[in-house]
Amino acid sequence: MRKRLLVVTGGGDCPGLNAVIRAIVKRAAFESDWEVLGSIDAFNGIMLDPMQIVELTPEMVAGIHVQGGTIIGTTNRGGPFNWPVQNTDGSWTTIDRSADLMDRLRAQNISAVINIGGDGSQKISQGLFELGCPVIGVPKTIDNDLSDTDFTFGFQTAVESATDAVDKLVTTAASHHRVLILEVMGRYAGWIALHASIAGGAEVCLIPEIDYDINSVMDALNRRITSGKGFANIVIAEGAKPREGTMSYTASDDPGAMPIRLGGAGLRLSQELKDAGCSIEIRETILGHLQRGGKPCAFDRVLASQFGVAAFEMVLQEKWGQMAAYCHPEIVAVPLSEAIKTYNHVDPGSGLVRTARGLGICMGD
Ligand code: F6P
Repeated sequence: MRKRLLVVTGGGDCPGLNAVIRAIVKRAAFESDWEVLGSIDAFNGIMLDPMQIVELTPEMVAGIHVQGGTIIGTTNRGGPFNWPVQNTDGSWTTIDRSADLMDRLRAQNISAVINIGGDGSQKISQGLFELGCPVIGVPKTIDNDLSDTDFTFGFQTAVESATDAVDKLVTTAASHHRVLILEVMGRYAGWIALHASIAGGAEVCLIPEIDYDINSVMDALNRRITSGKGFANIVIAEGAKPREGTMSYTASDDPGAMPIRLGGAGLRLSQELKDAGCSIEIRETILGHLQRGGKPCAFDRVLASQFGVAAFEMVLQEKWGQMAAYCHPEIVAVPLSEAIKTYNHVDPGSGLVRTARGLGICMGD
């Protein structure tokens, strides 16, 4: 009987997931004693009755590396450790079904799991590893907020989309002599905002790691206006917040979902600028899920392919409890416990922030 590898894609989707799946399947095809399966919608495929598991063959994955999304689906609600269940009164609660998941994996003769996901998914990987699951992690997220890897795949594509948006907003800002605010994703990290600001040439970049002072932003805008340029572009990360303020979010009562959904930072900034006396017209754009959808850029296709091949080879080497990580130019194995220990924030004292400041970009402080 062939050994069975289960591939799981969890959390928010991101460009490059299909390229990882394809690379795993193509590499596994060289090993006649392995078959590759996919669990539909993260671990739901195993947890639900009837189970939803599909065989992933080389024919099925042919050419999918150029497609966005994930052919096996994903979810960022719930998981084996916080599975949503409805009470008799209609309210929802979450329960730990990890032991049940382990039983189901054993019942399906699963010899290895590759869990492709962000920090939440890799916490699940680590939890399952501690229960004895032979699991390997692959770091995915547009937010680039996982530690111990130079980059997560999906991030560069998101930066491309955000930069493209800045480029377009610059021309309309210039034509209408306006201040245009672009809100980008990234959760609690400002990587997308910082990269897109430098690449697109924004005047102001606001990130969660540097609380902004609205007066500093106003000063930067006024300098820009008095220098003869009657327009400005601001990129704000969804997690950015004013000094002594809080992040903009709506509370989510979705069972098993993240308790808060970030969003609204750009609109709030717009109001703060108006209140502070900004005399030129302001418009706001929220880029949203356009940063997550669509085909991966070439860099992400290459990185995702590297991750997929390396992750399968880590399975062959039984490197359980480890995550494939990008340490330029190689893919290395790092313990999952290390990768999830700290959140990968932008360091305000880093060279990249210095570059932004050196270009005259106001960081809000
Ligand atoms: O983690 C990826 C991400 O796109 C974040 O940047 C964003 O805050 C969040 O997911 C949005 O998630 P949802 O899919 O629930 O809208």
